[in-house]
Amino acid sequence: QEEEQEAFNQNLETIVATLPKNKGWRGLHIYNYKGFWVSPEVIKGILLISDHFRPQPTDIFLAAFMKCGTTWLKALMFATVNRHRYTSSDHPILRSGPHSLFPFLDTHIFLDYPVTNFDHLPAPRLFATHIAHSLLPVAMTSPETACRFVYVCRDPKDAIVSKWHFMRKLRSKELPPVSFDEAFELFCNGVSEYGPFWEHVLGYWKASQESPEKVLFLKYEDMKRDPAAEVRKLAAFMGRGFTAEEERGGVVDEIVKMCSFESLSNLEVNKGGGGGQKFTAKVVVENREFFRKGKVGDWENYLTEEMKDRIDAITGEKLKDSGLVL
Ligand code: A3P
Repeated sequence: QEEEQEAFNQNLETIVATLPKNKGWRGLHIYNYKGFWVSPEVIKGILLISDHFRPQPTDIFLAAFMKCGTTWLKALMFATVNRHRYTSSDHPILRSGPHSLFPFLDTHIFLDYPVTNFDHLPAPRLFATHIAHSLLPVAMTSPETACRFVYVCRDPKDAIVSKWHFMRKLRSKELPPVSFDEAFELFCNGVSEYGPFWEHVLGYWKASQESPEKVLFLKYEDMKRDPAAEVRKLAAFMGRGFTAEEERGGVVDEIVKMCSFESLSNLEVNKGGGGGQKFTAKVVVENREFFRKGKVGDWENYLTEEMKDRIDAITGEKLKDSGLVL
């Protein structure tokens, strides 16, 4: 096994050494792997997922570009799927940060040596990922064998702002912070972890158009406008639609309330000192970093008129003819 591991690591190094590299927002290099900018850890994850992850048709994935609503959706999906298992006074969401509710496959796949086995998880297994649709193994994405995916997307202008704040916090303190102007420039050129943003979104959007029963496409802005309506859609898609009795009993509103920004961000466990989420041996993120403002349109405080026009023009151009409007 040690030899296999050694050979795997060498192969990974060889692959990474041949790839175009650029500056990542944490100050570390990211590499263009098959069209998407990712860290060497994520390339490792992609290879391990492809070789070792055994998808099951009952698996449900939460997929998103960074900072588009993973934390919120994690809580909502977990609460919806497990609503008969817990009461609201004794709920794991109240005790643990949303990120410990189910695994983030991209890096969790190698948290246990040499590879994590998820076979013990009860069906439906829930996983999260930021990996682009085209980089996932066909066994996970082809309509015949596919798992289900819930994709959440967000106005790229708000995603940039949220990501810039988050990555500054995540960077090693000995590295200089990336300025907002620099991050903006990189983003527009597609260079940002898991990006380009638009290609990421389009991959899942097209899959949702082709197989709506396999891929549910949600928008952060719609969820802010009418969270109950989106949770009903989410529940039905996951095969856990609410019964008339649950509707009468206010179950939907209870879930929405428990998972709201106000509730989650005020929990002791998410306020700081409570705990963190281990992504890799080196990257542990405190729960409080996943909660900032939770608003639509904060970009107005960061982007100039010119920046807004530039990014809107890119979005318009990239999404034209797709039927998707952001
Ligand atoms: P802002 O930085 O704009 O506030 P992710 O979970 O994908 O990392 O995205 C984080 C973004 O979602 C942050 O956005 C965060 O504040 C917001 N967020 C976290 N929990 C939320 C919730 N329950 N409802 C709405 N937004 C939430």
